[in-house]
Amino acid sequence: MHVLTVLDHPNPASFSAVVAQSFMEGAKAAGHTVELADLHAEGFDPLWSMADIEADGKASIPPDVANEQERIARADAICLVFPLFWWGMPSMIKGWVDRVWSWGWAYDQLDDPEISLQRPRSGVLLTPAGARSDEMEQSGYLAALETAWIKGTFGYFGFSPRKLEVLYGSTGSSERRQSLLETSYQVGLSLAPPQPAK
Ligand SMILES: Cc1cc2nc3c(=O)[nH]c(=O)nc-3n(C[C@H](O)[C@H](O)[C@H](O)COP(=O)(O)O)c2cc1C
Repeated sequence: MHVLTVLDHPNPASFSAVVAQSFMEGAKAAGHTVELADLHAEGFDPLWSMADIEADGKASIPPDVANEQERIARADAICLVFPLFWWGMPSMIKGWVDRVWSWGWAYDQLDDPEISLQRPRSGVLLTPAGARSDEMEQSGYLAALETAWIKGTFGYFGFSPRKLEVLYGSTGSSERRQSLLETSYQVGLSLAPPQPAK
């Protein structure tokens, strides 16, 4: 498969950046080709604007959005890597989702049921988080993210199968971080192929 990794972190030495590298190493070890969209390094503009509204995914698509859509078009699997911020996405990846997965290209709400216009792709979220797993489960944050990202966002993306891997305790000990990097590698190594959505 061709695997696109989309990274949101301004620091090339961040834990998130190493997570993306570990995931890609795993994917390469499984025989996949890899491509990295390093949004900060590439200067992607995350701000949804009038140009995006006027394009509506069909005409006069802003060149940076068209470039990202071409990357998606050639990918069979996509992994988003970003740190959990305020129980949600940081602004760069949020803007990438808002602008690139546009109405008319990714989905069309006028044709209910709300299914993706995109072919099935394998989709993974690798999300470093400061919190512990019990904290996120008991508070309901994990269930909220599963609903919003896996059922909602990844559904509109046409991702099948879909996986959210929260890398809990990402600011912890070096042993802890090492085990999270091993998890990231294993997620790349064991990527499932795309399947028709259920
Ligand atoms: C602005 C901000 C908001 C954050 N919000 C959360 C949060 O809601 N839940 C959480 O578990 N960790 C939160 N964190 C911790 C980050 O997820 C953690 O620092 C990050 O995963 C570490 O990865 P990095 O070294 O690649 O930045 C937050 C950190 C920052 C800077």
